[in-house]
Amino acid sequence: MSSLSGQHILLGVSGGIAAYKSCELVRLLRRAGAEVRVVMTRGATGFVTPLSFQALSGNPVRCELFDPEAEAGMGHIELARWADKVVIAPASADLLARLALGLADDLLATLCLATTAPIAVAPAMNRVMWEHPATAAHVESLRGRGVTILGPAEGEQACGEEGPGRMVEPQAIIDHLAAIPGPLEGVRVLVTAGPTREALDPVRFLGNRSSGRMGYALAEAARDAGAVVTLVSGPVALPAPQGVETVRVEDARQMHEAVMARIGGVDLFIAAAAVADYRPKAPAADKIKKTHEGLTVELVRNPDILAEVAALQEGPFTVGFAAETSDLEAHAREKLERKGCDLVVANRVGEGLAFDQEENEVLLLWRGGSEHLPRQPKRALARQLIERIARRYAQD
Ligand code: C5P
Repeated sequence: MSSLSGQHILLGVSGGIAAYKSCELVRLLRRAGAEVRVVMTRGATGFVTPLSFQALSGNPVRCELFDPEAEAGMGHIELARWADKVVIAPASADLLARLALGLADDLLATLCLATTAPIAVAPAMNRVMWEHPATAAHVESLRGRGVTILGPAEGEQACGEEGPGRMVEPQAIIDHLAAIPGPLEGVRVLVTAGPTREALDPVRFLGNRSSGRMGYALAEAARDAGAVVTLVSGPVALPAPQGVETVRVEDARQMHEAVMARIGGVDLFIAAAAVADYRPKAPAADKIKKTHEGLTVELVRNPDILAEVAALQEGPFTVGFAAETSDLEAHAREKLERKGCDLVVANRVGEGLAFDQEENEVLLLWRGGSEHLPRQPKRALARQLIERIARRYAQD
């Protein structure tokens, strides 16, 4: 799997003849499995039309900061958060100067201030402009702030001169972006997902409404962030994610066994499964017949996988889920303490959220803080959660 697969790349295009090469860059990025959104400066639109980038990227192209219609779709702060990586190609002398000064006088410069994603720039300009002390100072200042400067290459220039100032080739930009480590690079992650089924007899079980979507989306987002992921899943209708070792189980005791057999060496444990707390004490060997008016089934407790993993000496960083119908924060805080985990993702059940739904909205809690992540599709939410989890894991 390409390391750009599933990544969100924000491509900034500024005014310069090399803008035509960025069309090829978009094509290559998409071929590598990345999702691309393009933002153009006004100067860039003089060289290539927004429509070209829109057709190539498959997403609307933005040029203006104060565009009410575009802001209603994905606001500029949302766009800055969306990006896993920002690349500006070509980067003009003017854009480098504005970035170095921290100006926010157009959409692209504003996004560069508002994002926490790594930024790379591929300068392209006349060689005298590149060698000008003002440009050199801006480039140094950007480098000092962690911006990667790709090139420029030397050679024949569009203006007829010879020297440094040509934009590096799209493939070199792709190679750089692919080599930037993700926030969970090399981290070993184990995710549980889906419901469990607790047998009553050979054909019936006690279960719940979990579809497994949130856990599967988390496993995929962790993989895209560079992690080595194992997914232990209860029975769901979802295909095993590519590039993720998937272990299928049926009931809570099998899930417990599968997790404990693999937990050694795991750095991060995410318990997204809706594990049954109880199971029938003695499942019937044969199908239960309706010979009586009533039926009483004795239930016994299942092992609490999350609590057991959280109690391990030298165990992994643990993330639990709390599905609540009332007093969300209070119950989730109590769970954080009782289970001894490092983070709790709390969601309200019902109102079209959480169980067996496409969308979710959560409250993330840890000792000493919390953050609300608004209602959105589970895949988008999973990416945000993995980004937050990675941050807290790194601080641990
Ligand atoms: O105990 P409760 O079900 O409220 O806690 C939910 C959290 O604990 C989830 O993260 C769930 O995956 C985990 N859990 C577990 N094993 C159980 C029950 C819950 O890992 N037996």
